[in-house]
Amino acid sequence: MKTPHVFLMCPPEYFDVSYIINPWMHGNVRKIDNALAKQQWRALYDILTDHATVRLIHSQPGSPDMVFTANAGLVKERRVLVSRFRYPERQYEEPYFADWFLDRGYEVSLMPRDVPFEGAGDALYDRGAARLWLAYGHRSVLAAKEVIAGKLGGEVVALKLTDQRFYHLDTCFCPLDGGHLLYYPNAFDATSRATIERLVPASRRIAIGEEDALAFACNAVSVGARIVVNRATTAFVDALGRRGFEVVQTPLSEFMKAGGSAKCLTLRLDEP
Ligand code: ARG
Repeated sequence: MKTPHVFLMCPPEYFDVSYIINPWMHGNVRKIDNALAKQQWRALYDILTDHATVRLIHSQPGSPDMVFTANAGLVKERRVLVSRFRYPERQYEEPYFADWFLDRGYEVSLMPRDVPFEGAGDALYDRGAARLWLAYGHRSVLAAKEVIAGKLGGEVVALKLTDQRFYHLDTCFCPLDGGHLLYYPNAFDATSRATIERLVPASRRIAIGEEDALAFACNAVSVGARIVVNRATTAFVDALGRRGFEVVQTPLSEFMKAGGSAKCLTLRLDEP
């Protein structure tokens, strides 16, 4: 059954690991199996098109990480705040994403040049309350909070990431329908863990273990009752099953080598 969800994806035409900007990329420079990457991307695309609409942006030579559209920006209705990447290697992507939204009639805002903010990689809407969760510490900075509140409005709750392996919020935190929250508590500092515990009731929190966290099980795309991930343990599948979610696993090993998986490869465009 189709949901009303709409995602933006970018085909992995020029995908590669050609520089190192996160720990997952170490040892993986030029180690991508391109044919396998294309097959894995296509499998994710096929799963999503069964349940949602997928729009595409052209990939660009010289921007091997552009396939990770979660980092394009932060969308709210017909407005978008385009990312300002921390590392120059990914700043080339900014105008391509800005143009994609401009061409489709979005009201486009840019970040100040000195305020890194990596879009829906670090900013995720709660699915139970009117609140945006923003992470800082690795890629985005805390100062992005004021910019987001000013441009898009709404309550923004900041969380601090402390483990290099979980360098974007969407690698360790995933709000689910009904106000459920999938997350890996060890990726956050103590204050942020307390904030999460204060705002999300215990019955709605699904804290995952290290094995699932390292397989990027929090990097999940939720489409209706389906949760699409790279890989997950049976404990994870059971925990979500008890809450009425069905876990769909689709291997994304080639993208893991760049530090991304299912959720990073998508940007949800239907954000109310
Ligand atoms: N190699 C990319 C980077 O380090 C991976 C981005 C993954 N995206 C995400 N939303 N977590 O920027």
